[in-house]
Amino acid sequence: MNDFVYYTPTKVVFGKNSEQQLGALVKEFGGHKVLLHYGGGSARKSGLLERIEKTLKAEGIAYVELGGVVPNPRLSLVREGIELCKKEGVDFLLAVGGGSVIDSCKAIGYGVYGGGDVWDFYDFKRVPQGCLPIGAVLTIAAAGSEMSDSSVITNDEKENWEKRGCNNNHCRVKFAVMNPELTMTLPAYQTACGCADILMHTMERYFNHGDNMELTDGIAEALMRTVLHNAKILVKKPDDYDARAEVMWAGSLSHNGLTGCGTDGGDWSTHKLEHEIGAMFDIAHGAGLTAIWGSWARYVCDARLERFVKFAVNVMGVEPQTDAKQTAIKGIEAMENFYREIGMPTSLSELGITPTDAQIEAMADQCVASTRDNLGKVRHLAKEDMITIYQAAK
Ligand code: NZQ
Ligand code: ZN
Repeated sequence: MNDFVYYTPTKVVFGKNSEQQLGALVKEFGGHKVLLHYGGGSARKSGLLERIEKTLKAEGIAYVELGGVVPNPRLSLVREGIELCKKEGVDFLLAVGGGSVIDSCKAIGYGVYGGGDVWDFYDFKRVPQGCLPIGAVLTIAAAGSEMSDSSVITNDEKENWEKRGCNNNHCRVKFAVMNPELTMTLPAYQTACGCADILMHTMERYFNHGDNMELTDGIAEALMRTVLHNAKILVKKPDDYDARAEVMWAGSLSHNGLTGCGTDGGDWSTHKLEHEIGAMFDIAHGAGLTAIWGSWARYVCDARLERFVKFAVNVMGVEPQTDAKQTAIKGIEAMENFYREIGMPTSLSELGITPTDAQIEAMADQCVASTRDNLGKVRHLAKEDMITIYQAAK
């Protein structure tokens, strides 16, 4: 087992009506003036924002609002948020939404704390030294940003948009309010995208080159089986509370570091390849992942066959074949069948995009730049490998 640091400072308040504790939670973590940050309308429509405003008022906490965060959250709105916070003297950020809103809050927090150009933190020019405190009310189980150290922002100010992540413990959310009932208003497609992303956060860590990770593997496999099982329930019964709850908790544990303890850090190729698709075509993150994963898996599986076999047998329930490669391929096919079952694409054309050769080359160039040519633990991917995978995913 490799050495590791496991750091999860987020207070999780989980369950029905948990959002009613919001005002008290903001107070507990020292907030006096809050930026209420949210997305394109779902939180207003469901009445959630109104309930939140009420609890803040009840605790005498002042707030200003900034809505309009879109999936693949934009740098331009982050800048607006930074200016608003400075002007209004905001000392606490409250994200109401999913990964996009939480990530936008994290970027605003970095920008207010660090001054200067916030994009520097996403462009490897500066490392954040702090962040405004953040609380989250999660409305979609997916990105895991409520417990992760990561923030992913899309730079919409450049001619060719860039989607970049910044990983740093300073942005860890102080508290996350998770009421599974809040996710029941999600469109089926977003629920499925979320389940795909949750699975992938553990799959990225599971496909690695480490050894002796019995406990971590066991936790990872249980988490993946749980999501596979409950995602299928949610296709038929979107208002099943227990299935919503299992998926929501899995979403946080999948990306808070737990399923990577003692590994070599995991592969992350599918994520990085997807981020470039997201930057160029502005698609839903989870769907981008499922469109590319099978092509990646087939391309690299020989480099770590035993792990693909373990995944096939322990996670996907494949009967071991005499030929290990055959078992591995059956595992990959089983996962792709699952994606189809929940309505997720398994190719770029199913995702609704047809990138040209020039666009594929541009995505590969960006991917090399954003990973500083250091992508892939199962197998290192150079630019030509990335192009082959994108082409195979067409
Ligand atoms: O904007 P609204 O109207 O709220 O609609 C959202 C949005 O259109 C909708 N939605 C959310 N909760 C809802 C709801 N609709 C109805 N009822 C509800 N309860 O769902 C749509 C997607 O929301 P978004 O926040 O974009 O989803 P997600 O949580 O998947 O976040 C995606 C972003 O997170 C990044 C992705 O790259 C992408 O930019 N990621 C962040 C990570 C992190 N910070 O750790 C890790 C991930 O790997 C990922 O890269
Ligand atoms: Zn993800």
